Amino acid sequence: MTLDMRRVIDPDTYFDHNLPPTNLQWAHDEVDRFVKSQSPDQRIVLVTSGGTTVPLENNTVRFVDNFSAGTRGSSSAEQFLAQGYAVIFLYREHSLQPFNRNYSHNTRGILSYLERTSEGQIRVKREWEEKMGRDLDLYQKYTGSKLLMVNFTTLSDYLFLLREVSLLVASLGPRVMFYLAAAVSDFFIPSHSMSEHKIQSAGGDLTLRMNQVPKFLRPLVKNWAPLCFIVSFKLETDPELLGPKARHALEKYGHQVVIANMLDTRKCQVWLFTKEASDPAIIQISKEDQDAGRDIEQDLVEELDRRHQQYISNGQQQ
Ligand code: PMT
Repeated sequence: MTLDMRRVIDPDTYFDHNLPPTNLQWAHDEVDRFVKSQSPDQRIVLVTSGGTTVPLENNTVRFVDNFSAGTRGSSSAEQFLAQGYAVIFLYREHSLQPFNRNYSHNTRGILSYLERTSEGQIRVKREWEEKMGRDLDLYQKYTGSKLLMVNFTTLSDYLFLLREVSLLVASLGPRVMFYLAAAVSDFFIPSHSMSEHKIQSAGGDLTLRMNQVPKFLRPLVKNWAPLCFIVSFKLETDPELLGPKARHALEKYGHQVVIANMLDTRKCQVWLFTKEASDPAIIQISKEDQDAGRDIEQDLVEELDRRHQQYISNGQQQ
């Protein structure tokens, strides 16, 4: 397979050339209801989480995926709830979800947490009871009232939903945070250029021509939600590129924070870049703390919470 990824598409016309997801109207109605049900001073965060797919066929059998388990997003959503935020969780279907994340996607299947009693009933094994009980209580406490989950699969689903949610929350201004942890594809094939049916292998090698996805941070910051507090992420594998690219993103899009992380160390170290400081703030967590069950997202979200409060009280001057 050869990839040829040179064509650049106009950001404004993206939505005219791609199909919206089937849950767009549902998401509109649910987000609208959720936002209206919050008190007037409630802070709200949109957390995006997981990777987008890029289909290769309209009747999709094959697709290109973006790396992300959804750990950052789902763990952060839990921390935002603990800090008192209402959370709209825009996540890749089947990726990790708040509170459920501890029992899915690991080497143990769900059945390994259960046992049958001598009376024939099924119950959670004793060693898991306390932890599962805590997660269950939090899950039930927040779901619906403070936690709204909206799912996406493809890049196009994600972008339509991101725009829809942004336009719905924009009028709330500085008290809304965007926390863009999803891993979003930079290349795609527009639906009109895609094969309608499964690409056949009889023809030998496959050459793919992909268009560049416009960076949607630009319309998000400039047009969709200009008064909100916007945090984007920068993921790199080359340490030489990380700092320069994080700074470049801040200058180019003019938003509030870029969280830079390296693929290999993302669970124990992140760098927080802002326009105001010449050096990034470093947030890191020791191996011992990680083994004891502490996530780096706890410190990261507490730091962002402080900065967001400052932003609100400065009247978006930060
Ligand atoms: O889920 P985990 O396994 O825990 O991994 C977490 C993570 C590494 C995925 C996460 O911490 C992270 O870095 N997410 C952002 C990954 C990413 O898309 O980086 P990027 O450098 O390609 O894009 C930078 C920013 O531009 C992102 O905030 C993205 O929302 C935005 N973007 C990207 C592509 C695009 N076409 N338009 C965009 O606006």
